Amino acid sequence: MQKTLCIIKPDAVKKNVQGSIIQMILDNGFKISAMKLIQLSEEQAKKFYEVHKERPFYGELVNFMISGPVIPIALEKDNAVADWRKLIGATDPAEADAGTIRKLFANSKSENAVHGSDSEENGIIETNFFFKPEEFVK
Ligand code: CMP
Repeated sequence: MQKTLCIIKPDAVKKNVQGSIIQMILDNGFKISAMKLIQLSEEQAKKFYEVHKERPFYGELVNFMISGPVIPIALEKDNAVADWRKLIGATDPAEADAGTIRKLFANSKSENAVHGSDSEENGIIETNFFFKPEEFVK
């Protein structure tokens, strides 16, 4: 089965919609193999989003991601990367399809409720960023 990383971002945790998002994950056939509630440090957020460090929104993104607790969740499913990106919808909630997580819960392009890995390779790298091997259930 393929792995992908979900992060329930600070905006969604502050709105108390984390339970609804987890229910959507389960209702759509994903297996949760690891999950935790954490406060990211600035150093961790900068490292996780290093790929975006030259983008104009990098500072805003890092500050947002450390503005409150987040819930990283390792997901597994056949075709998990594409299926999760379909369920979360476009980066900008204004462009997201009806019924997607971002359409339902995101505030804006920057405060967009959830993260999804963009490739199978990054699904593995990103789940391993947040979880040690012994933290995954079989
Ligand atoms: P995500 O795809 O999870 O990871 C990269 C994030 O950068 C993206 O979600 C948005 O939250 C953020 N992002 C992308 N484009 C912009 C933008 N133009 N302005 C602010 N934040 C952005």
